[in-house]
Amino acid sequence: MLQYDVVIIGAGAAGLMCAAQAGYRGRRVAVVDMGKKPGRKILISGGGRCNFTNEGASPTNYLCGNPHFVKSCLSRYTQHDFIELVDRHGLAYHHKTLGQLFCDNSASDIVDILMTECEWAGVELHLRNEVLSVSELAEGGYQVTTSHNIFTCESLVIAAGGLTMPKLGATPIGYKIAEQFNLKVLPTMAALVPFTLHDHDKMRFDGLSGVSIPCLVSSECGTEFRENILFTHRGLSGPAILQISSFWRAGQAVTINLLPELQLDDAIHQWRKEQGSKSLKNTLSNILPKRFIEVLINEQAIPDKALNQLTHTEIDEIAKYIHQWQIKPNGTEGYRTAEVTLGGVDTDELSSKTFESKKQKGLYFIGEVTDVTGWLGGYNFQYAWSCGWACGQAC
Ligand code: FDA
Repeated sequence: MLQYDVVIIGAGAAGLMCAAQAGYRGRRVAVVDMGKKPGRKILISGGGRCNFTNEGASPTNYLCGNPHFVKSCLSRYTQHDFIELVDRHGLAYHHKTLGQLFCDNSASDIVDILMTECEWAGVELHLRNEVLSVSELAEGGYQVTTSHNIFTCESLVIAAGGLTMPKLGATPIGYKIAEQFNLKVLPTMAALVPFTLHDHDKMRFDGLSGVSIPCLVSSECGTEFRENILFTHRGLSGPAILQISSFWRAGQAVTINLLPELQLDDAIHQWRKEQGSKSLKNTLSNILPKRFIEVLINEQAIPDKALNQLTHTEIDEIAKYIHQWQIKPNGTEGYRTAEVTLGGVDTDELSSKTFESKKQKGLYFIGEVTDVTGWLGGYNFQYAWSCGWACGQAC
């Protein structure tokens, strides 16, 4: 029987940040994880370079049943605090687009920083320990039974993540523990995930795999993202699609403005004056991928005519088609490839300051297991650092 003040289930971003903070407060802390290594999702994140935060992170970049919930932790431990931490450890990193910060070398640099902090704070790490069950002790506190040990603790922090990437150790244990203690768990769904297409669309776009287009993508609820879409052999991906997937629901359409920088009807009228004998196909192929335009011509979505043969009505229809191109996805690729899980432990059950359950003293939930989902772009790690830090001050 191993006794600690704090046991944290999950050696991911949130759990390791929380562990170091609690350790610095003088708490005896154990982190328990079923994996062979800590921070396995960090290691594969951002294409191996970990987009560890976003310079512009704010509560508006998160989906949560209670939009105010993240305000407290994001303001108490900000992206600037995390940047200060990585600067102190001498991390080499760079700015990409849209405020995203990535490691220059490898995502393992972030795991090294967290492990160094945990070591300095006296945290003990128990890897290859799958949590099998949790129970409340009669005298107060909790018992955690793993595949190798029995732990007891005063404070139990659940940082066991969501359901994405089961091959990296995702399990529903966090939700099960919440339900065991009568906390509400909101329905979960894969998010930041590519779309799959219906067979007829798959056939239409067969051959476009690898084609990328900068677009403005909108969901039926009106949320918009201006980034690239990417055709893949399975369907549609790219940053704009991953972003909008968090707002999409089964059966809905997605509207894609393929030329958001241009007023296409005005442009076609202008081209008619300057180069009327040129074909619409060749003209559009200068500003959109040729293979994509060929698909639209072949299926007669846009006419195969010279610019000066187009009627005013046709020009209006072409502009509408390109600016409001609609796709009805068949579904998503699901948890296998999703970056995050939407839904989870209802934040109304938790203190936004400490992340402790309002009903169950000494039981805390942080990170992806909670009903907080960030946009693509480093926001999910920033939430993990912020809530891990806040919980670490209290547990
Ligand atoms: P996380 O899932 O990291 O950790 C949970 C831990 O609990 C795991 O180590 C697991 O083994 C352990 N566990 C689960 N069940 C257990 C059990 N029964 N017993 C013991 N241990 C158990 N975000 C971002 O901001 N920037 C980025 O660049 C990326 N990139 C990215 C790429 C890919 C491919 C994915 C899948 C995800 C991202 N993300 C991201 C999202 C980011 O990885 C995610 O939000 C955080 O890792 C969540 O951290 P947590 O600590 O909450 O859970």
